[in-house]
Amino acid sequence: MSAPHEPLGLDNGLTNYGDRDFARYLRRSMAHSMGVSDELLSKPIVGIATSPSQFNNCHRYMPELAEAVARGVLAAGGLPREFPTISLGEVFLNPTSMVFRNLMSMDVEEMIRGQPMDAVVLIGGCDKTVPAQLMGAASAGRPAIQLVTGPMMTGRHKGERLGACTDCRRFWGKFRAGEIDRVEIKQVETRLATTAGTCAVMGTASTMACITEALGMSLPGTAAIPAVDSQRLVAAEETGKAAVRLARHPITPDQVITSQSVENAFRLLMSLGGSTNAIVHLTAVAGRLGIRISPDRLNQISDETPVLVDLKPVGEGYMEDFHAAGGVGAVLRELKPLLHLDCLTIDGTTLRQRLETPAGWVDRKVIRSFEQPISPVGGLIALSGTLAPHGAIFKRAAATPALFEVEGRAVVFEGLEDMAARIDSPDLDVNADDILVLKNAGPHGAGMPEAGYLPIPSKLARAGVKDMVRISDARMSGTAYGTIVLHVAPEAAVGGPLATVRSGDRIRLSVANKRIDLLVDEAEIQRRLAQWSPPPKPERGYAALYRNTVLQAPEGCDLDFLVGRAKAPAST
Ligand code: FES
Repeated sequence: MSAPHEPLGLDNGLTNYGDRDFARYLRRSMAHSMGVSDELLSKPIVGIATSPSQFNNCHRYMPELAEAVARGVLAAGGLPREFPTISLGEVFLNPTSMVFRNLMSMDVEEMIRGQPMDAVVLIGGCDKTVPAQLMGAASAGRPAIQLVTGPMMTGRHKGERLGACTDCRRFWGKFRAGEIDRVEIKQVETRLATTAGTCAVMGTASTMACITEALGMSLPGTAAIPAVDSQRLVAAEETGKAAVRLARHPITPDQVITSQSVENAFRLLMSLGGSTNAIVHLTAVAGRLGIRISPDRLNQISDETPVLVDLKPVGEGYMEDFHAAGGVGAVLRELKPLLHLDCLTIDGTTLRQRLETPAGWVDRKVIRSFEQPISPVGGLIALSGTLAPHGAIFKRAAATPALFEVEGRAVVFEGLEDMAARIDSPDLDVNADDILVLKNAGPHGAGMPEAGYLPIPSKLARAGVKDMVRISDARMSGTAYGTIVLHVAPEAAVGGPLATVRSGDRIRLSVANKRIDLLVDEAEIQRRLAQWSPPPKPERGYAALYRNTVLQAPEGCDLDFLVGRAKAPAST
């Protein structure tokens, strides 16, 4: 536990009137107008950062969670003060929530720093919200603890369980292939997401919730509790109490998010077979504190870390099964020999202390032992090569092994509109062993939407083709699967080699060598680049700020002026 500290409470960061006593008196007067007593105004203040919105289904129970956090704060002798930030509902934002992650992080950072609080509880859930909150809190530098909203429960359809959103894609694929009709897809639509909470599989939201626990930024055992389980409210109350302890014994995010805890988080990501998006988000969170994990180190971690968790989209189960099976704690205990155990966590204990007690009963159908993994190597790898000189990401756990070592003819789409217009055309010149390529869907090109899961052209889907190699500078939903190369950098819109690919070029993917190569002469690539011109930029507002400053995927897609100073890399 850190040294005791006298919380400043309401005196934190007084408003600048040039008269501190006046500022204090005025602030207390306005606080009294909210009906808060003198006694409570003298307590440590815990901010509760919330983001409920009727455009965010995943945060539907957030008001009840905030109430439970406040209860915990009061019980521990603090004054809770809830405050809103913007909310990012994954499927309600255009062009993509990814563009707004950095905006939310700035909102979180400035509101933590600008308002009088000794510690803050961050409540988030939907894909971009937890990364945004961790990024903002890391930059703000105040004691902070994360609470997630928790995953949805599954629905039912014709005797099988359904969970957003792996099953959303599976049934959409069946509909596109003509295997189910319009009436059935309509029924499925109402059965995929039936409760509050984040998507029910190991998608981006769940992966980030688990990563947060592995980083040590949330209480142990809290990542996977379903949103509607009463234990989630207990976890919220406990998080409120922990925040008061943080106010009195400060631990700041930079003490918890270190190069070693980031490596632990990457290990967990590999063993979960988790979302490719988590690499971008964890890189951005770490980047706020000047921490960088190289692609080679990422691959080393992946090659050493087995996949232990059998959940969709790479396996069978859902998050409710993961929670019942033992959750993050059970996985971390299996990974113990590979982890940096001296990392400090937000409750003042080390990871070693957190993992000292045995896991208890573990459902080995869902969480395998280290000795009997689902796969001996991790779920994600970094690729490089002439098509992606600065890197690309490949989720080998969700891909078809028969497509790991292939060379094929490129079928190129110049952008999202081109793909939408032609992918299902009966005239599209495409065969099952071709490689589909999407350009101009990276951070600069389109805000990096989750468009990397290119649909199988319908004429091939109807012929029974289930998977093809697909390459883009886009991202992919954490709930999606297939032989898909993502995050190609530099992206097409900044003149990366991807910009030069033409239909008919040959491309080679080698998972064994971790390479993605465009088999075109360098001189020809340079000749094509000389004829290339960048797409136009937006001229005003946040879109212009984003476009002028966003970094490439290997740097976390943060805005360049928000990244922290570099620190020494982790020891290997
Ligand atoms: Fe929010 Fe999937 S829509 S986590």
